[in-house]
Amino acid sequence: MSNPALALTSVSKTFGGVKAVSNVSLQVEPGERRVIIGPNGAGKTSLFHCISGALHTTSGVIKCFGEDITHLAEPDRTQRGVGRTFQISSVFADLTVLENIALAVLGIQKKKWNLWTSVKNLNGLRDKANEQLDLVGLPNKENALVKSLSYGERRQLELVLALVNGPRLLLLDEPCAGLSPAERQRLFGIIQKLPRSITMLMIEHDMDIALGLADRVTVLHRGEMILEGSAQEVRINPQVREVYFGQV
Ligand SMILES: Nc1ncnc2c1ncn2[C@@H]1O[C@H](COP(=O)(O)OP(=O)(O)O)[C@@H](O)[C@H]1O
Ligand SMILES: [Mg+2]
Repeated sequence: MSNPALALTSVSKTFGGVKAVSNVSLQVEPGERRVIIGPNGAGKTSLFHCISGALHTTSGVIKCFGEDITHLAEPDRTQRGVGRTFQISSVFADLTVLENIALAVLGIQKKKWNLWTSVKNLNGLRDKANEQLDLVGLPNKENALVKSLSYGERRQLELVLALVNGPRLLLLDEPCAGLSPAERQRLFGIIQKLPRSITMLMIEHDMDIALGLADRVTVLHRGEMILEGSAQEVRINPQVREVYFGQV
């Protein structure tokens, strides 16, 4: 049997006295679409940070396609095919769409942005960028300033930024947050059409969207995984109804 795309063993993340993620173990199979749900503060974003390498785990082991990545730095995980989008919009508003894409490809940090000028004409970047922009419904936007885009288009661009590095494992943290119902449907449609060569984990609050996309659902509550199952199993589970549906 092939290795899981992602295997977490007893992963915990503590901030001071707060146990944001507590002993989470789970496996995601290659090509699977896993949705993570749970009330605010359940530890969903912290868990994604641990997987992407933005944060280091307090304890536990993280394997990606069989390789132990627990102690790798974030860029090394990106190189191995871990991609992500952020809960809070994280694009550079004063740069063009193409410049944002170039920065994502180069992994250049904000503070080093002036290095950009020397790599402006990276071979193939424009083609690669346009291919991705077409895919997510932003054709002919390469030279647009990001600040001229609508909020919905910015969220689409964020998906492009996660896709340009060719992820095998894609982490989407509430990609539809803050969108109108129409924009939400549009972005959700784009996400649904992504190829199964990309294993996907998505944090999503909208239960219809979450359960419509998911092969399987993982429920977090106070840092702990309280259930994993099919969308239907999760929907009818009494404990989930209490901690999740019950709070709305
Ligand atoms: N950088 C941080 N420093 C201290 N506490 C944090 C930090 N990030 C998250 N937390 C705490 O960890 C818990 C889980 O937060 P988070 O992972 O953002 O949850 P979710 O994404 O499910 O809403 C919360 O109690 C939150 O206040
Ligand atoms: Mg969150």
